[in-house]
Amino acid sequence: MKTYIKCDKAQVFVAIADERLVGLLWTHRIMRVTEERLHVAQFVVDKESRGKGIGTLLLNECIGYSRDNGIQTIDLFVSTSNNAAKAYYDNAGFVTERLLMVNKVE
Ligand SMILES: CC(C)(COP(=O)(O)OP(=O)(O)OC[C@H]1O[C@@H](n2cnc3c(N)ncnc32)[C@H](O)[C@@H]1OP(=O)(O)O)[C@@H](O)C(=O)NCCC(=O)NCCS
Repeated sequence: MKTYIKCDKAQVFVAIADERLVGLLWTHRIMRVTEERLHVAQFVVDKESRGKGIGTLLLNECIGYSRDNGIQTIDLFVSTSNNAAKAYYDNAGFVTERLLMVNKVE
């Protein structure tokens, strides 16, 4: 995150409740072929605070930032095993653009 902050490419969105950090969504601008995008590097809401709309609040802030700065696409990676997050992103309008394939070399 430090590296991106230093070169002014990072945007960090936080949710604070009772002086405690309960949600974090940090992003950085990145070039994908010819399009500059906002890449979500980390998105997490404190376990006890999930399901209360905090994630949606943070994502909406991120969408607003993108719109205000002429960025037309937000992208992110999600593990295929993270069904809850996949369902969340489906619901939020994300679609799968490419798949990261791996082959474990013994
Ligand atoms: C994904 C995450 C950031 C969402 O934050 P949140 O504050 O819980 O999300 P919201 O309260 O805004 O929920 C929005 C919707 O998603 C649903 N949802 C959120 N988390 C869910 C879960 N774990 N399982 C099922 N549904 C979930 C909510 O029910 C809600 O649906 P609704 O609008 O129809 O009521 C949070 O669940 C989290 O930190 N997960 C663990 C970390 C993670 O996997 N991050 C993504 C890595 S790529």
